[in-house]
Formats: sequence, structure tokens, C-alpha cells
Amino acid sequence: MKMIDQYTPVSMVVEHTIPVDAGAVVILIATVDGLPTPVSDAGLPAALRQAMRALSLAGALPNLANEIACQAVESSGQRLLVVCLGDRQKLTLQCYRDAAATVAKAARKQKIAQLAMLIDPALPQGSHEIAAACATGLCAGFFLLEQFKGTSTDSKAKSPASLSVTLVVEKPAQPFAATAVRRAEAIAKSQNFARAIAGHPGNVVNPPALEKIAKSAAKACGLKVRVLDEKQMAKLGMGGMLGVGMGSPQTPPRMIVLEWQGSGSRVQGSERDRNKDLTPKPRALNPLLLVGKAVTFDTGGISIKPREGMQRMVFDKCGAMAVLGAMIALARTKCSQRVIGILAAAENHVSATAYRPGDILTMYNGVTVEITNTDAEGRLVLADALAWGIETYKPLAVVDLATLTGGVVIALGKEFAGVFSNHDGIATEIAEAGAYHGEKMWRLPIGEEVKEMMKSDHADIVNSAGRHAHAIQGAEFLRRFVPEDGSTPWVHLDIAGVADNEKASAMYTPGATGWGVRTLVEWITGRSRGDEPGAS
Ligand code: BES
Ligand code: MN
Ligand code: ZN
Repeated sequence: MKMIDQYTPVSMVVEHTIPVDAGAVVILIATVDGLPTPVSDAGLPAALRQAMRALSLAGALPNLANEIACQAVESSGQRLLVVCLGDRQKLTLQCYRDAAATVAKAARKQKIAQLAMLIDPALPQGSHEIAAACATGLCAGFFLLEQFKGTSTDSKAKSPASLSVTLVVEKPAQPFAATAVRRAEAIAKSQNFARAIAGHPGNVVNPPALEKIAKSAAKACGLKVRVLDEKQMAKLGMGGMLGVGMGSPQTPPRMIVLEWQGSGSRVQGSERDRNKDLTPKPRALNPLLLVGKAVTFDTGGISIKPREGMQRMVFDKCGAMAVLGAMIALARTKCSQRVIGILAAAENHVSATAYRPGDILTMYNGVTVEITNTDAEGRLVLADALAWGIETYKPLAVVDLATLTGGVVIALGKEFAGVFSNHDGIATEIAEAGAYHGEKMWRLPIGEEVKEMMKSDHADIVNSAGRHAHAIQGAEFLRRFVPEDGSTPWVHLDIAGVADNEKASAMYTPGATGWGVRTLVEWITGRSRGDEPGAS
């Protein structure tokens, strides 16, 4: 797992006492009526209690979310870090993830290599859920992609190479918390791997390079891999994949298929609802299908993009990176459900061999597409992946993720992904799994009202139909490549706004966020736990 975990040099254990050798001790506090309110300090060692009092008397306890106060603990030589979660009345698990990520960033800055984080049993959420959220936040916050720094490796020289964490919970909660933390850690490290590969530039990660990376990651965690190259795609008639990839004959497209067979047994549920009925259901052999857009760089093609900000199109592979991260996490957590993940990889380039506006492509399912804009390329690679994936694997349900349209960023901004679906139940399940993990979504419409828009005079449909409703056009286009009778529940997530950050947030640094990894794993684990699909 070294290849995958190299981007998260964090190790974690769960204890019920504070280890004596912890270089720093972290206490989480919240505010009540705006005032920082320390935890009941009954269980604290005297030295820490004293340090807390000193901070409190000096009026130095933090009272805003993600603010940290530091205090030397005289007698033990330790450092006390007090971090504020925000208003106690409004605490969510996301507050813990953000606070823990802030602590990890501070640890890196202050060269703290070892810390103990105390989970106060008096806080409103359950200890095992809080511990898992803290584990997620610590891993996300400690992530650093430094491999492309050449001579300017300042931080590398100064910051500790790794962080060792002890999460301290009450004794009765320890076994549950330990299980939940182990799970959260594996998922967060898979998410960080997705962030790291997403952050690899276009000259390093092209479709064949992505094939290599996916193969070695798959080997490390026990996933099967199957790859269609350009010749096989030509035989299968995948006009979308081939059309988009035509401009890059040196780095041709790849359909990368990852398979997790399913552990066949119910190994462990997520921390979300251990109280639910866990009576095993016979394992369905039909898989779930995840499809991700992996445009390794999007120049726009002949309909070239403006120069301003084009470098951000490095992140046009984030949909597929979420699928890759989720597949790795499902394998590492030994999910019982069989799952197929497809990375639809192509480069959208400008060249003498590139596809043109006016070209008509015949897709895998026979639908013909008039290219009106070569920059609407994501839907073309996804279309073949969806149609072929559904026909080949007969999934119970399919979810695709793509940085598909700038339109969804205009509509929903940087906090919400757009959700489109032919099945209300599945769409709700996924939005709920996302809400639990702080990955927010908002539903947008598709269907008869917008079907007309995509008509072509020369082919069956166009790939882009003018200025109106870009995000909806993208989804409506994709709908033509899933069974029209709605027999396969399908959700399309347009993650163009949430896949990368220009500025740092509490959890993330500027760059890819790995959005979707935790949501997908939560949704799939919830289903294999026995929750009925779309039962609502
Ligand atoms: N990869 C882009 C979408 C995108 C834009 C992602 C901004 C992240 C940030 C996609 O391939 C694209 O170019 N979409 C066009 C569609 C249009 C030509 C119909 C867009 O959104 O402008
Ligand atoms: Mn594009
Ligand atoms: Zn694109």
C-alpha cells in the first residue's frame, strides 16, 4: 500500500489514555453563547488542566471555528493545542473534520511529529463517529503534493516527514472507535491518492500513463484491471472515445476498467448507523457501476479554450480520480458488494489529427453525434463508457462523475455538485451519503422538457446546443446512453465546481479535493449493509 499511502504519511491508533510521549495534546472545544467553553476537565492530568486554566484566565481560548491556541505545558514539556469547533449548538461532523485538518496543518508548520487528540465524551456526537471524522480531517489536512517541487523544497526540509496520532476516547468506546478510525483512515488515504494523481500535470499523466498508475494501484490493493486500448475501442465502435482522443496519436485514449469482486461477506458497516438491521442479504452478483471522466488535459480542442485559466484543465480527470479513489477504498475496507469502476481516459488536444466541429461520430450504442463544439468532449467519452459498461456488466445502478460543465459552476458555485438522475430513490441515497460527509449536492432537472434542445439537423443529436443550460444539456446528452426505459437507475454528478479549490479551505490545500471518494464509499457500503436501494 506504499504507493497509495505515500501522500498521507500519517499513522493512527486509538487509546483510552493519553500516551506519555505525545509531543502535543489536542483538546477540542466549542462555544456556548459565543464564549469558548472548556470541556469538563475531570479526566485531564493535572499538568494539562493547569495549562487549560492558564489559557482560560488569559482569555486566550479560541472562540471561532478552526482557531487554535497553543500553550506550553510546563511540567511535561508537552505542547497543548486547543482548537475550536465553533458553536456547540450547530456542531456537525464536518466541524470535526475541519478542526482536525486545521490541527494537522498546524502540526506540519510547528514541526509536531506526534500528537494525542482527546475526544471529549461530553460532545454531542457519538465518540466513534467523532473519532472517524477526526481521522478523516487529520489525513486530509496532512496531505501535501510535493513531488513536483524542484529546488524550492523549503517545507520539505523543515516539516516533519510524518505525523503519528493517538486518538483518545473513553474506555468503553475504544473498540468501536478503533474500527471506525481504521476504516476512515483507509478511505481518507485513498482520497488523498486520488487528489495526488489528479494534481499530476498533463505532461506526466496522459491516458497510457494513467493506465500504468491504475494498474499498480490495483495490484497494491487487490482490484482486477482490464484495459481497452485504441484498437479494441475501434473494433467495438467507440466513436466518442476515439473522436476525442484523435488529436493525441502519441498518447491515445484508454478505457480503464477496475473490478472489485466483493468480499462476499459483510465485513464491517460504516460508522453511520451501526444500529440498523444488519441481517445479511444474499449477495447480488450484479455489480454497481461507477464511471469517471478522465480527460487528462482539456485544451478545448479545435474549439480552443481561452488562455486565461486553461492550466486548471489538469483537473479535468477528477471524476475518474474519484472513481479510482473509491475503488481502492472499497477494496481496502473489503466491501461486500461487487463494484466496477471505469476511467474513461482521453486527452482533448488541438492538432492536425484532432476531431473537428461538424464531424459526425457514431457512438458505441449506435447514436450519431454532430460535433458542434469540440470542447464538449467529456460527454463523448462518458457516453461510450456508460453504454458499453451497462451492456457489459448489467449493473444494479450506475453513477458517473465528471467535471462536465462550467455551467454547473455558474449555477451552483464551488460548494455544491449538480445531481441529475432518472431515479429519485438513488439520487436521494447519494445526496444523503454526501451530506453525511460534507459533500453537498443539489438536484437539477433532465427529461422531456429539455430533450428537444439536443436535436441535430444532420445526426441524431448535437454535443452542445448553444448558450442555454449547459449543465442540463450535458446530463441530457448522457441520458441517451443509459437505457431510455429507466431500467438502470443512473445518477450523473457534475463536479466541475467542487473537484478543485483555487484557495485553501480548512480541509484542503489549493488543488484537487478528491470530492466524491467518501460519498461513493458511504453510498455503496450503505447498500451492501442491507439498506434498500431507492427505498424512499
Ligand atoms: N472540462 C470542461 C468543464 C469545466 C469548466 C470544468 C470549468 C471545470 C471548470 C468541459 O469539457 C467543457 O469545456 N465544457 C464546456 C461545455 C460547452 C462547450 C457546452 C463549458 O462548460 O463551457
Ligand atoms: Mn471541454
Ligand atoms: Zn472537459
